[in-house]
Amino acid sequence: MNVCWPKIRFTINNEACEVHVPPMKRLLDVLREDLHLNGTKEGCGEGECGSCSVRMNGELVNSCLVPVLQAEGAEIQTVEGLATNGILHPLQECFLACGGAQCGICTPGMLMAAAQLLERNPNPSMAEIREGLAGNLCRCTGFMRIFESVLAAATQAENSVAEKANHAR
Ligand code: FES
Ligand code: FES
Repeated sequence: MNVCWPKIRFTINNEACEVHVPPMKRLLDVLREDLHLNGTKEGCGEGECGSCSVRMNGELVNSCLVPVLQAEGAEIQTVEGLATNGILHPLQECFLACGGAQCGICTPGMLMAAAQLLERNPNPSMAEIREGLAGNLCRCTGFMRIFESVLAAATQAENSVAEKANHAR
């Protein structure tokens, strides 16, 4: 039997898209299977690990818990949307430089959680970084390098703002 699934529209990484899929299909699966955005990873599949984190309407969500129908009309950002015109996001640069990118499973979710944190709090303390990434698990317990990567990105951004202010004087 051919089933005609309803149209679900949303914006993904600033591009409009439309899918025809079962409305209760997990956003995680729609991203990976239908939109071929494989950067978002599945860890636990139960909302516990944060590997599948994406940003939806400015909030960090576990895409394994979001039925795609809830994404109707939403603006979604995945890890593929962090780089701009092939230039890595400062967080991605710092994860590379500071050894925060240790495995392919947790890193995309960590990056999205860190992007969310820095947008809300551009100058977080180490304690705030720990708290901001508390929903994201690193199973190999390499948390320190991840936290240091986020701190480095925040420090870099702060220095560049200060530099610009100095030039403007
Ligand atoms: S896979 Fe979604 S929270 Fe773990
Ligand atoms: S670095 Fe990914 S699970 Fe530890």
